[in-house]
Amino acid sequence: MTLDQARNLDASDPLREARERFVLPDGAIYLDGNSLGALPKATSPHLFDVIERQWGEDLITSWNKHGWIEWPQRVAARLAPIVGAEPAELLIADSTTVCLFKLLGAAVAARPGRSTILTEQGNFPTDVYAAEGLIRLRPGLELKVIPAAELAGALDENTAALFLTHVDYRSGARHDMEALNAAAHAAGALTLWDLSHSAGATQLDLNGSGCDLAVGCGYKYLNGGPGAPAFLFVAEQLQDSLQSPLSGWMGHASPFDFASSYSPASGINRFLTGTPSILALAALEGGLSAFEGVSMAAIEAKAEAITAFFIDAVEQGCGDELALASPRDPKARGSHVCFAHPQGYAVMQALIARGITGDFRPPDLMRFGFAPLYNGFEDAWLAAASLSEILATREWDRTDFRRKQTVT
Ligand SMILES: Cc1ncc(COP(=O)(O)O)c(C=O)c1O
Repeated sequence: MTLDQARNLDASDPLREARERFVLPDGAIYLDGNSLGALPKATSPHLFDVIERQWGEDLITSWNKHGWIEWPQRVAARLAPIVGAEPAELLIADSTTVCLFKLLGAAVAARPGRSTILTEQGNFPTDVYAAEGLIRLRPGLELKVIPAAELAGALDENTAALFLTHVDYRSGARHDMEALNAAAHAAGALTLWDLSHSAGATQLDLNGSGCDLAVGCGYKYLNGGPGAPAFLFVAEQLQDSLQSPLSGWMGHASPFDFASSYSPASGINRFLTGTPSILALAALEGGLSAFEGVSMAAIEAKAEAITAFFIDAVEQGCGDELALASPRDPKARGSHVCFAHPQGYAVMQALIARGITGDFRPPDLMRFGFAPLYNGFEDAWLAAASLSEILATREWDRTDFRRKQTVT
């Protein structure tokens, strides 16, 4: 494992030119695109146009003139090839938490007489919190949180829905989506996937793998900007039999009739709630445009190769000081890797001080995200080399590196 090897791999990388689509500070090694994607060069001019010309000059006429009212669907159509779904099965809306709550509520209502929703221990907290909120509203409904290995065996005639995060936010472990969908369907349950750490980094085929429902963040590998809206997916054949528990006017059959009671739109539109955030949609569109002409098979292949290279380079340089906390099999993980160290937070701060940005997740995990569009093998090699120096010299052993900031 050498710097030359890394450079050779970059030279033969079919995605090497995609990095030019992003604004990245000179010399920065940014390994946190799984938390906040980098800024695409296309975003600022697009956003500027929407602000200055559309909002500034055309004011409210833009809802019709520039079709703003259809942007949740129009921008979703740009996401469709990235997540392997039909445009009419996707919307851009709300936040991931809100989308998850809406779809989980819709799933539970579609399985009357079934009293459990099932997820795994260690799922992302907001997913569990949203489910807890739902069961507080529905007496008799129970949330079962069990180890991943027990999921398939726990599905039964009482299960209304199985909801899981496809790629684990800490370990990066990737579920076998197709097998779990099949097991859930055999028990008569619906599935809901959180694709926050998968969308834009793995090759997905939501229909081919039998997904019913899915949600995901717009601000991670999709590069939509801080707090970007989320996306939701509802398989076409289910749309007219499900209803969002958060019925709002944008999901009404005819919002501008201002009818006195709710009547859901047909198709995916019924899963909208309130007025779409146009500036945020414009920024997300900039993020999605960075995927133009790029195959998701190439993205996934690079994710596998670069994370494998990084693991080898770290293990070569750091020996036993770090423990790999992600699956070793590239097919069993997404595009981020975690290493455990008792002082992981301080070690990560020392890396950040050197211009190499990853993040930290408790209890002791240093997390390194590789965005296949803009991270290269050289980034992986340089990060591993710095990590090895920081550990060897105890560069991390400083009070200021131990002091936890609000966002870790
Ligand atoms: C798996 C997963 N789901 C959901 C979220 C966050 O959801 P929201 O966009 O509602 O803050 C995150 C944030 O990191 C996440 O990792």
